[in-house]
Amino acid sequence: MSKIKTALIVGASRGLGFAIAEELLNRNWNVIGTVREGNRTELHSLAEKWDGKLQVKYLDMTIPSQIERLKSNLIGESLDLLFVSAGVANEKGMQETIGEISTEEFVRVMVTNTLSPMRVLEQLTENVRQGGVVGVMSSGQGSIADNENGGNDVYRASKAALNMIMRSFAVRKGKNHALLLLAPGWIKTDMGGKEAKFTVEEVIGDIVDTIVSQEGKTGLQYLDRFGKPVRW
Ligand SMILES: NC(=O)c1ccc[n+]([C@@H]2O[C@H](COP(=O)([O-])OP(=O)(O)OC[C@H]3O[C@@H](n4cnc5c(N)ncnc54)[C@H](OP(=O)(O)O)[C@@H]3O)[C@@H](O)[C@H]2O)c1
Repeated sequence: MSKIKTALIVGASRGLGFAIAEELLNRNWNVIGTVREGNRTELHSLAEKWDGKLQVKYLDMTIPSQIERLKSNLIGESLDLLFVSAGVANEKGMQETIGEISTEEFVRVMVTNTLSPMRVLEQLTENVRQGGVVGVMSSGQGSIADNENGGNDVYRASKAALNMIMRSFAVRKGKNHALLLLAPGWIKTDMGGKEAKFTVEEVIGDIVDTIVSQEGKTGLQYLDRFGKPVRW
């Protein structure tokens, strides 16, 4: 019988991170999911349902000491998958332009979507076994080549910067793991909104298929949920 695999999903309180965690549990993975400290989340209820298969850990990924605390909690744990789903959009809506956004909000979006996932990867990639997968939720909006309609200035920039830093990270760390930037499509979550094209249920199987199919590869890929390359 093959060994049961373990994933760490960062940002699993709700939305796509929660759905990835649930889908992996349904595929017989063990899952460690992170939420921010404070309120009880859907993930806590899921952990009760999946007694022992799902551990809830606490992480605000913008706080470096909490990343270190999570790392020290993972001693002895060999991960098959590390995936950072957590991210934010501008509070006033993505249509806020670079001319309108406050410096504080610009910094919040960039720190959350660009710096923080990379800090998690810098700290925790060594907890992933050789041949395992290390991924981050990017977005099609992070593609510079595909930005022909404009809009969403700051959110796009945060994901484009994430993509750029992942490329540098891949040069240093892409030899033992599959590195992945995923563009999931426009999905109905709190961030995606009601107008989004797809429900989480419609896309989650494809998202998880694409993530787990990277196993055993090396180097970095920027893929949509069907596993098709996205233009940089
Ligand atoms: N939905 C879409 O259409 C779409 C399209 C392309 C890309 N994406 C990307 O997909 C990812 C997930 O988005 P979603 O649609 O699932 O959004 P969502 O429903 O708004 O969920 C966002 C998740 O990120 C977590 N998070 C935010 N800031 C965090 C922080 N500082 N530390 C730890 N966790 C934090 C939230 O935790 P709390 O519950 O504590 O706030 C929540 O679990 C994001 O990176 C997003 O940019 C989404």
